[in-house]
Amino acid sequence: MRRVQTFVRREGRVTAAQARALEELLPHWSWPQGCAAPAEAFGREAPTVLEIGFGAGENLLAQAQAQPERNFIGLEVHRPGVGQLLHRAAQAGLTNLRVCTQDALEFLQQRLPEASVDRIQVWFPDPWPKKRHHKRRIIQRAHLDHFARVLRPGGELLAATDWADYAEWMREHLEAHPALENVHGAGQTAPRCAERILTRFEARGLRLGHSVADYAYRRR
Ligand SMILES: C[S@@+](CC[C@H](N)C(=O)[O-])C[C@H]1O[C@@H](n2cnc3c(N)ncnc32)[C@H](O)[C@@H]1O
Repeated sequence: MRRVQTFVRREGRVTAAQARALEELLPHWSWPQGCAAPAEAFGREAPTVLEIGFGAGENLLAQAQAQPERNFIGLEVHRPGVGQLLHRAAQAGLTNLRVCTQDALEFLQQRLPEASVDRIQVWFPDPWPKKRHHKRRIIQRAHLDHFARVLRPGGELLAATDWADYAEWMREHLEAHPALENVHGAGQTAPRCAERILTRFEARGLRLGHSVADYAYRRR
């Protein structure tokens, strides 16, 4: 049976530059076929950060530029956003970034070994506000099992949302997971992650008067 997906593929407009980036650059920055570990994909052992649903990749780009000593893996199914990141990654000449357009949940299961990632960041995931769509939310027990498996002990899971209902849902699911521990004490939110850039998703939430909840959990 097909698993319920956490996204709907709406391609929107792919600009000429994005299309060119996808065609010419994706092969250079994509996760190598058949590769099953970050050390192999990057050709080095280094602390590895994984972003799920990076949108247009503003955060990954800034982080990979500012932190050459870390490996960054970006997972995003929305191809215009992937094209945008690749275009900028090429301009910046990044060598510590790999991207994959596969469903993140499949990628985690098929491409990453246990305890191979130091941080997972999931910022402003689709909120799926209607009750009948809650099963599509990326933060939920079965998905957290996959996150926990690939995180190293002590590795962190960072999440943020501007939807009050999803913030409460996140807190419940994250607190309930036996492999995760709240870095700031049971049930607590975290300070806004200083590395995060204000993307259009967070900016829209703030414009609408939403407050943003950040969470930081550690793999036990
Ligand atoms: C609301 S956007 C947020 C983008 C970005 N994190 C930001 O804050 O600007 C959520 C993104 O997650 C992506 N997404 C949702 N489920 C995904 C999955 N299973 N694998 C990869 N990407 C996914 C969507 O395509 C969408 O671009």
